Amino acid sequence: DKGKPIPQPKETFLLGNVPDLDPKVPLRSLIKLAKVHGPIYQLRVPGQTLVIVSSQEMIHAVCDETKFEKVVAGPLEHVRDFAGDSLFTAFNHEPNWALAHRILVPAFRPTAIRQMQPMMMDVLAQMVMYWEHHAGQPFEAAEQFTRLTFDTIGLTAFKYRFNSFNREKPHDFLTAMTKLLGDAYTRSRRPGVVNKLMYREEAEYRSNIALLHRTCDEIVAARRKSPDPEAGDLLNRMINDKDPETGAKLPDDNIRYQMVTFLIAGHETTSGTLAFTVYYLLKNPAIMRKAREEADAAVKDAGGHLAAINPTKLPYLDAVLKEALRLQTTATFWTRAPKEDVELPGGYFLKKGQPIGVVPHCLHRDPKAWGADAEEFRPERWLEGTVFPPDSWKPFGNGARACIGQLFAMQEGLLALAVVLHRFELDFADKGYDLKIKMGITIQPDGFRIVAKPRQGRN
Ligand code: HEM
Repeated sequence: DKGKPIPQPKETFLLGNVPDLDPKVPLRSLIKLAKVHGPIYQLRVPGQTLVIVSSQEMIHAVCDETKFEKVVAGPLEHVRDFAGDSLFTAFNHEPNWALAHRILVPAFRPTAIRQMQPMMMDVLAQMVMYWEHHAGQPFEAAEQFTRLTFDTIGLTAFKYRFNSFNREKPHDFLTAMTKLLGDAYTRSRRPGVVNKLMYREEAEYRSNIALLHRTCDEIVAARRKSPDPEAGDLLNRMINDKDPETGAKLPDDNIRYQMVTFLIAGHETTSGTLAFTVYYLLKNPAIMRKAREEADAAVKDAGGHLAAINPTKLPYLDAVLKEALRLQTTATFWTRAPKEDVELPGGYFLKKGQPIGVVPHCLHRDPKAWGADAEEFRPERWLEGTVFPPDSWKPFGNGARACIGQLFAMQEGLLALAVVLHRFELDFADKGYDLKIKMGITIQPDGFRIVAKPRQGRN
């Protein structure tokens, strides 16, 4: 073996390093291990060794697309049980990745995303009504924003209304999907044979997958039966559009997988980001004031019509969202691997195909990249013309397999913030609340409750 040995916490007999990972919030362990072992260390988990990188220097190296690529490893391998060869979960060599990428990229270009604004505002108006009806009553921020983002992706992706603001309990689809995502993580910590032997869990797992697939297939069948050329949603593109290179269309099972993936990738990350953002705004009244001034001015520019707010003219809110994504990166972990044997900074050698876990939380607080105030919530840092070192901010992943929905998420987030700040006075429901994290496949604030009251005398 060439090169310096990669640090590793002591293994436990049979279990390797699994006991080193907090079963509820593994991110917490990854942060702690980086403090003990440094910017690179390795963990033995069932079936594989994972090399974990945490500093800007290391992560910049593994973001080099000529030498490294995304690998589907760990929990993501299990997400394939329900998302198949969709954009998010496809192996690089699977032909449907490139096919779907070429067909769907135009749907995520700036002009296409701007055309989705009325649908985004439609759901946002439902949230505003809900908050007005529940004025002064405490509710959990992440849960509210999950209703918003889940319904928004349902409407913009396939004109389906989950109607989350009209139901007490989450939609069955959301319950099944959330359970499956938790299961994907649990299953990745256990040897495959153990998963198969847990009959009851296995049966529930399979039945939740069937529910997801059935719902998606029904939506596609309904659209095929009654085409809706005006829908302007992703489903029309998936059913009708041809690959500009080959003329091929997406196979039916792949359309279903993309639908599952859009619902997974498109809601929890954005809702968590909005909840963290509101938390930081409440903790920093001066920043809240500045953000609200910008929201009010944008509504004024739109002639008082919320639906006409221009999301590209909200630079301060944009900085606020970026800063929240920096400090609380909702997509906490993604994996890459070298295309050939490779040397990393510091003289560590990795073999071709060795899975590497990237921890953006640590990258985003690396003082070498962000300075001495890296731990502080300071949106102004985005507006001072500072050039941060390359690959310092990676909440949306990297390279060819980076998030296709980045612009979608930013527009949705900006509109939601502008409307919420313009319409409501917000406060902590529990005075003195300090941030706690809960983790599914993404992170969200735990037990963070807010109260919203309509603002008096707003313009
Ligand atoms: C991929 C983050 C919103 C759709 C990714 C990846 C990250 C990410 C880190 C790369 C994963 C990896 O390397 O394994 C986020 C965050 C979001 C967000 C932080 C919100 C704040 C969305 C939205 C959509 C979406 C709204 C859809 C409308 C996707 C898809 C992929 C992806 C389809 C797979 C792309 C590919 O490999 O071709 N996202 N995402 N995401 N995201 Fe997002």
